[in-house]
Amino acid sequence: MYNTKDLQEAIIHLKKEKDVCILAHAYQSQDILEVADFIGDSFGLSQQAQTVPQKNLLMCGVRFMAETAKILSPDKKVILSNPAAGCPMAEQLTIEELKEIKAQYPDAAVVAYINTTSELKTECDVCVTSASALNIVKNLPNEEILFIPDCNLGSWIEKQVPEKKFHFIKGGCPVHMRITPDDVIKARAAHPNAPLLVHPECKKEVTALADYAGSTTGIMKYAANSDAKEFIIGTDNSIVQHLQFEHPDKKFYALSKDCVCHDMRLTTLVDVYNCILGNAGEEIVLSDETRIKAKKCIDAMLEMS
Ligand code: 13P
Ligand code: SF4
Repeated sequence: MYNTKDLQEAIIHLKKEKDVCILAHAYQSQDILEVADFIGDSFGLSQQAQTVPQKNLLMCGVRFMAETAKILSPDKKVILSNPAAGCPMAEQLTIEELKEIKAQYPDAAVVAYINTTSELKTECDVCVTSASALNIVKNLPNEEILFIPDCNLGSWIEKQVPEKKFHFIKGGCPVHMRITPDDVIKARAAHPNAPLLVHPECKKEVTALADYAGSTTGIMKYAANSDAKEFIIGTDNSIVQHLQFEHPDKKFYALSKDCVCHDMRLTTLVDVYNCILGNAGEEIVLSDETRIKAKKCIDAMLEMS
């Protein structure tokens, strides 16, 4: 029987032997982060997917992240660590619905949160992540923006780019949407000296009350660089644990104990081990047509960032 340390050592040895690069989203568990070659937010993972030298790429995260990696590195074998790990938000809109909505706003740039399927990306002008959205939307020539699917992230950008006209659909992250302004009132009362750091996937009423809003990596950097000794964290609660691990001298409190992404929890260290052995995970296969069309809006994001 293996323990965590044995498994980690086996993974570190095997990934070199089998030429595998492990990319892990920041919401993955600590034992997985420790064996990853790169840990990051969605934007960082996209940048890395283009440049890693290994022939095989194991994405520990959710499906749209593995698809993005495949689109950017079509010659690599890209494996999604757990085939069941999807992002519910990525599937909130069908391609037919998007075509109908687009027809209503012919002058609008279609801006897609990267949390979308590859199929949806084929109908979009540019992708964004929470870390890159503001710059990209500001620099688009269009005055009208159709922002899909996350209306909360979209509203956060809208507030900072008042010169443009935004159109939204009723989409968003079901996990971050569980956080309420009442949670903020309670957390602030319990921890009056702690700055509140939230992800912009939170409801706009929650983000409006925060001291800082940003991507998962942004939140982690803010906490690392701040002189404050305690923080309230409004995103998937894995970030509370990672921050506590990295900064044992500071204190981190979850804004809501309900902010847990079950899809991000699906991948285990054993999955990672079995994926490298070729006994688990799913190889991402996309048609050339989808891949080439979807790549345009991801390339546009990377160029404009
Ligand atoms: P970022 O890591 O880009 O902030 O996104 C968070 C998220 O919910 C990913 O699905
Ligand atoms: Fe999707 Fe929300 Fe989970 Fe991120 S946290 S993967 S947006 S459901």
